Amino acid sequence: MKRRAFIVAAAGWGAAAAWGSPVPRRSKARWRERREFFREGVASGDPDSNSVLFWTRYSGSPAGKSARLTLEVAEDELFERVTASAPVTVSPAADWTCRVLVGNLKPSRVYWYRFSDPDGNGSRIGRTMTAPNEGDPRTVNFAFVSCQDVNEGKLNAYRRMIYEDERAPAAEQLDFVLHLGDFIYEVVEYPDEVKTRFDRTIYEVTRFADEHSHKVGNFHIPLTLDGYRSVYKGYLADPDLQDARARWPFVAIWDNHEFSWQGWQSTVKAGKFEVPGQTVKVAANQAWFEFLPARVSPPSGSLEHFGPPAVKNVPIDKFDSDGLGLEPNNLTAINSLKGYRAYRYGRHLDLLITDQHSYRSANCFSDPSLAKLGGDEFIGMSPESLMQILDGGRAHNGGNPPAEVSFNDARIPNPQRNAPPQTILGATQKAWFKDKLKSSTATWKIWANSEGALDERADPHNLPPGLTKESWPKDAGYATTGSGFDYGTAYSERAEIYNVVRDAKITGFAIVSGDRHSFWAGYATAELPPGKFEPVGLSFVGASLTSPGPMEANEHTLPKDAPLRSLFLADRQGQEKPDWTFNMLLKHGVRSCLEYAKSFDLQRARSLSNPDLAPHLEFIDLGGHGYATVRLSADEMRTDFVCIPRPITRSEKPDGGPIKYRVSHQAKLWRKGEKPVLTQRVLEGNADLCV
Ligand SMILES: [Fe+2]
Repeated sequence: MKRRAFIVAAAGWGAAAAWGSPVPRRSKARWRERREFFREGVASGDPDSNSVLFWTRYSGSPAGKSARLTLEVAEDELFERVTASAPVTVSPAADWTCRVLVGNLKPSRVYWYRFSDPDGNGSRIGRTMTAPNEGDPRTVNFAFVSCQDVNEGKLNAYRRMIYEDERAPAAEQLDFVLHLGDFIYEVVEYPDEVKTRFDRTIYEVTRFADEHSHKVGNFHIPLTLDGYRSVYKGYLADPDLQDARARWPFVAIWDNHEFSWQGWQSTVKAGKFEVPGQTVKVAANQAWFEFLPARVSPPSGSLEHFGPPAVKNVPIDKFDSDGLGLEPNNLTAINSLKGYRAYRYGRHLDLLITDQHSYRSANCFSDPSLAKLGGDEFIGMSPESLMQILDGGRAHNGGNPPAEVSFNDARIPNPQRNAPPQTILGATQKAWFKDKLKSSTATWKIWANSEGALDERADPHNLPPGLTKESWPKDAGYATTGSGFDYGTAYSERAEIYNVVRDAKITGFAIVSGDRHSFWAGYATAELPPGKFEPVGLSFVGASLTSPGPMEANEHTLPKDAPLRSLFLADRQGQEKPDWTFNMLLKHGVRSCLEYAKSFDLQRARSLSNPDLAPHLEFIDLGGHGYATVRLSADEMRTDFVCIPRPITRSEKPDGGPIKYRVSHQAKLWRKGEKPVLTQRVLEGNADLCV
């Protein structure tokens, strides 16, 4: 980009912007590292081939006063070749955070950067990388991560990522970290109120003033900007998170917990607490904008500060045909920050990032009348056919949804009969996404969708009689497990997108996601047997960095005498923790689980696998933690899962502690009309119950 074009573009961001000098010079700053003046560290974000956004927060200002900092960006770690030196103002309007866009950088190059105040008090030194030029054929390497609950765990996974990256050959080092959300958890526990949850020790994050928060069960949730800001500061006190942000540029999108656990649009929902939250959504957006440097446009039009629009918390009672709440404060709040965006990285990557929460319709699976259907013995399983009816709303079955839904003898009126079909993306974002997908020219079109999109299902219709008092309804077929409310049960919208991929003959389509606190690898398909299994791409879910997953919850909550316990956990004599048969349930089915819990013979159990249950799954671990890496080249996508033990305490080891397993999934680029095929290799450790 030419200087003039950059200045025009930077003005569009309203950014504090600097133009890199073609002739680097030795630093003239009086910088000396004083981290206590920059307690939240440094960060960089959203690099393109000639510019990067740089971030810090200054803690050295007298109360209420703004301050002037200097950012230096250099080609070397000693700052002898400084390419840009930019003045930056930090002020209370953005909680003393800043975002500086620096242009005229060279493509595909490592840079170092640091901030200092007028007295020479300096931040730590950060490292970042620009993207390759659009035609550059070099391989692209990135990690995808999610769910870093530091209230309940420690970020040993980042320590492991850093350790391995520092030792990797230059061509294999990570270019950026894709953060798929739950950067913070707004549901904060206080260690003196709750010492443990599941296997976890509760660690201090923050304390809210009463007027900034609400308490739901053991969780304190923020309702104001001050509240959200204090959560980010609590999270950024974590040394491993700070080190990760100082090592790589991050590309980030929020999941649910950056705003509200079960929230949607601008409604705050946490368990039974559900209130209009337009001011809360704006506050959450503002805090995200302030603490994660990203190429997003805040209402102020300036990256210097957010400029929150004035909104009121008003109930939303009118919705359009896509389930979008038309209440004006709702529209202002959810549009106060547009997180969805696309990102080009060399010849091989178009990263399409979507927001799964701001525009979604209300939870279609939560009508209280559904509880009357019963089926509680089947622990979290609902008929897939029922879930599809609820998802499809009034459009189900070609616009002829059933008037009633049933489970054995229990019948209720179909609660979604007149509702619009479920949408997660919302109409505007969905149109943008489809357009981007169709016009992409990169080898790989990677959809950064914070929510897992792979079906999660079981085959209770294959259970032998007599295990449960009630039998699985004869006509119900497969079950969906889990709570729904993610992309795995967004049946109609998912099919709509996958059909675009199929019909436009798009190749190199893959989803990377998070949220499920578990590792999954498989295929994107609109239907599963008895429907047509027709993969149009790859689909991956990365485990949580820290947050407790489904297996940990099961270990603590599943009654020993539950009739179907062995479908989830198999208790082995003399072994402290049970084996995780839940993985086997979703990959192989009930017959395999029952055999395994009896004989603990893996081969025999797998020989009873139901081939129609999960042709879309190659790998599943509902108990894993860690991170995933992706390597993209002209002819292959390789995705590695690096699984670590449950991160309850901080590892004192420089490598972050041991690895449980490392598993690699590779797919050759398929041609138009061909199906993608994954090849699996377990490179390290034991992943027996995951495959
Ligand atoms: Fe999460």
